[in-house]
Amino acid sequence: MDDRLKLLRENAKSRGEPILRDKSFELLIKTVESKNPRTILEIGVNEGLSGVAMLLKADSARLTGIEIDEEKVIKARENYRLFGVEARTKIFLGDASEIIPLLSAKYDFIFLDGPKGHYAEYADNLIAALNNGGTLFADNVLYRGYVGKDKKVPHRHATIKHSMENFLDKITTDKRLKTTVYDIEDGVSITEKLYE
Ligand SMILES: C[S@@+](CC[C@H](N)C(=O)[O-])C[C@H]1O[C@@H](n2cnc3c(N)ncnc32)[C@H](O)[C@@H]1O
Repeated sequence: MDDRLKLLRENAKSRGEPILRDKSFELLIKTVESKNPRTILEIGVNEGLSGVAMLLKADSARLTGIEIDEEKVIKARENYRLFGVEARTKIFLGDASEIIPLLSAKYDFIFLDGPKGHYAEYADNLIAALNNGGTLFADNVLYRGYVGKDKKVPHRHATIKHSMENFLDKITTDKRLKTTVYDIEDGVSITEKLYE
């Protein structure tokens, strides 16, 4: 990984930014490298550090991002500029729940890393927005180890657990899709769209 990017990731972590954890980040970048997408959608951009890494790996790709926090959008744009990838990016500032249904383009790669309680709500639109042969990479799908387990869940986490279980059910039972779930860190799923 680029040393400057490594440093920025360490700095963001030390400030408590919810950036993608190390092993999941490695898997993301490895997956982007092997798929070499031309169009990427990222839901939950934060400071743009995963976006930078994906664009450095897929050097002809364009990235569309959705982020609700204006300060993060400003920071992400600054980071895209720093790494010379800004011209290949477009960020929508706003709530993914409102923006996703309005997307008309299709994408080769979607990185879902936004509000964890809404993955199930987004699933149908995101699957529709994937090109055939495209990949949906989602973080936090095993949410704190609660997902798919009967163990007692603190009330504040129950809605997210339930939403993640619905999301995983959709992406593992839909015949158009092939999904692998990785039990690393907070859980990652990688879904390929085989046909419409
Ligand atoms: C886990 S962080 C994203 C990390 C980033 N993908 C990375 O790997 O560096 C989640 C981001 O989603 C944003 N977010 C939360 N709710 C959102 C919503 N409803 N719509 C769009 N973005 C949202 C947060 O502000 C936060 O920056």
